[in-house]
Amino acid sequence: MSKTRIILDCDPGHDDAVAIMMAARHPDIELLGITVVAGNQTLQKTVTNALKVCQHLDINVPVYAGSARPLVKDPIHAEFIHGKSGLDGPAFAPLTRRPEPMHAVSFIIKTLMQSEGDITLVPTGPLTNIALAMRMEPRIINKIRQIVLMGGSAGAGNITPAAEFNIFADADAAKIVFESGLPIVMCGLDVTRQVRCYQEVIDRMAQLGNKASTLFKEMMEFYNQTQLTAFHLVGGPLHDPVTIAYLIDNSVLELNYCNVNIDNRSEVSYGRTNCDLINFWKKEPNVHVATGVNVERFWDIVESCLALY
Ligand code: RIB
Ligand code: CA
Repeated sequence: MSKTRIILDCDPGHDDAVAIMMAARHPDIELLGITVVAGNQTLQKTVTNALKVCQHLDINVPVYAGSARPLVKDPIHAEFIHGKSGLDGPAFAPLTRRPEPMHAVSFIIKTLMQSEGDITLVPTGPLTNIALAMRMEPRIINKIRQIVLMGGSAGAGNITPAAEFNIFADADAAKIVFESGLPIVMCGLDVTRQVRCYQEVIDRMAQLGNKASTLFKEMMEFYNQTQLTAFHLVGGPLHDPVTIAYLIDNSVLELNYCNVNIDNRSEVSYGRTNCDLINFWKKEPNVHVATGVNVERFWDIVESCLALY
C-alpha cells in the first residue's frame, strides 16, 4: 500500500507533539514537512517546541515557521494549558536544530504545486497558514487530496461555550478553509474529548521504555495537571493525535457528512462550527464531521506509534 503523504501544520502544544511523534515514524505515513503556526503559544515558542521534539527523537523532518498571528483578529494563546514554554513538563537538551529558511506558507504552496495531487494537509492548530496558502495560490485547491483537521465541535466549545480553540483563534481562516470545496474530515471535540489520557494510559505507554514513551509520560503528566485545573477534567483529551490515528486506520472514526458553517461574525458565538448533523437546513454538505471514535483502537494506535522509537 502506498504511504499517505502529509504536511502537518501545528502549534505545539503537548497534543501536537504527540501527533508529530506518531506521524514521523508510522510506516504508512510520509511526513513531508512540519509547518508551524502561532496558537497554543507564540510562533517563536511553537516553532521551538516542534524543533525540540524533532531533535529529541531524531526526527529528520524539516520544520517551517508560518504565521505569527491570525488573519484579522488579535492572537490568543493557551498558556493555561500548555505552560509558559508551550511544552512545559519535559526537560530538553539545548536546541541545535533550526527551522528552514522558507516560510511555511511558501513550503505548503511549493510542495503542493510540485506534487501529483496526492498530499493530505493535517492542520492541528489555527488554520491561518492553510488559509494564507489558499489565498496566495488558489491553484493549490486542486492539488490537495484532502484535509484532516483537529478543530471545531458539533457540541460545546472549550475556549468559549460556543467555540473550540483552533477555530476560535482564527475563524476567518477557518471560513476560508471550510468553504474551499475540498474534502475535509473534522476531528472535533465531539470525539477528541473521548480519548482521555488517564494515568493508566500514561503508565501503559511508559512501559514501552523508550525515549518517545518517556517523553509522552513527562508531557502528559504536565498536561493532565493543567486540564484538571482548567476544566476539572481527570485525564486530558488527546485532541490532535486523533487526526493521525484516522490516517492510519480510517475505521477508528465514525463520520457524518453534513453542512458546517463557521461563525466569524457574531460576538457570543464567534468561532463556532455550526454542524447540521441532521441536515435540517438541507444545505450542501461540505465536511465529514467525526461523531464517534473507537477509543480502545485509538490507544492501540498511539502505543504502536510510540513503540517505533
Ligand atoms: O481545542 C484543542 C486544540 O487547540 C488542540 O489542537 C490544541 O493543541 C490546541 O491547538
Ligand atoms: Ca494543536
